[in-house]
Amino acid sequence: MEFRQILGKILILCGFIYVMTRILITGASRGLGLEFTKQYLDRGDFVIATCRQPEKAKELEKLQKDFGDNLEIEELDVTSEKSKEILYQKLLDKSFEINLLINNAGIISGNEKESSSFGELYKEDFNKVFQVNSVSPILISEKFLPLLKNVSEPKIVNISSMSGSISNRTRSGGYAYSSSKAALNMMTKTLSNELKEMEITVVAIHPGWVKTDMGGENAPLELESSITSIINVIDSLSIADTGKFLDWQRNEVQW
Ligand SMILES: NC(=O)c1ccc[n+]([C@@H]2O[C@H](COP(=O)([O-])OP(=O)(O)OC[C@H]3O[C@@H](n4cnc5c(N)ncnc54)[C@H](OP(=O)(O)O)[C@@H]3O)[C@@H](O)[C@H]2O)c1
Repeated sequence: MEFRQILGKILILCGFIYVMTRILITGASRGLGLEFTKQYLDRGDFVIATCRQPEKAKELEKLQKDFGDNLEIEELDVTSEKSKEILYQKLLDKSFEINLLINNAGIISGNEKESSSFGELYKEDFNKVFQVNSVSPILISEKFLPLLKNVSEPKIVNISSMSGSISNRTRSGGYAYSSSKAALNMMTKTLSNELKEMEITVVAIHPGWVKTDMGGENAPLELESSITSIINVIDSLSIADTGKFLDWQRNEVQW
């Protein structure tokens, strides 16, 4: 048992009541999504960790052994209407509500590894990247909105990227990825206006350049510290922050 888990149990035993957050995370099989799942579970929250192939998500399986009922592992390919519908019905049947939706699943290119450079661009790459990174977060938010309607402090967090900031763009390349994140930023801002009356906070967060399969081993930020910081940022959010583009340290990022 890790230190945070032990601390959590001691606090509960000492009479500190912790109000559990219910979180749905996309792309939880590895990288940032898996680390979100671990850290939220560690502090006693309930996580619906979704991924494309649960049968291959060995790390999630391990967490299931430690956290039992606090972890629900579900199949969700964010680009599949059928997969979304099946999960939505399942969550409705179980009367699940969520306080926090984290649209985290993302790809760097159509082949999910190297981004294609100018001179080698191909249409299918753009189609796939936009479907996963820009279109899916808004459609997932639309689909799962009813689960967020009657809870306290509902939040939608879209994991964006500094690459999607037009103002900060100084380099070339990464056409599909960076423009898909710029589109995600616009979706975030527009959705925040849509849901403001319902007091649902919607933000885009840049996680930093993080050591994951996508970020690579030269990334300066460790996974654990990026996610710990983002969780602090998410905890601190209120409806006054809706529509913001923030980084993992709560700095506002220019669009
Ligand atoms: N790492 C960084 O430095 C960095 C920087 C800025 C922004 N971000 C953003 O942070 C998010 C997570 O990135 P990461 O670094 O953790 O990437 P990663 O290690 O490559 O993990 C990506 C995750 O997305 C999932 N995914 C991809 N396509 C999916 C689909 N169609 N349906 C469901 N899940 C899908 C993958 O699932 P499988 O295991 O099934 O492939 C995997 O769990 C992304 O949105 C990324 O753009 C990362």
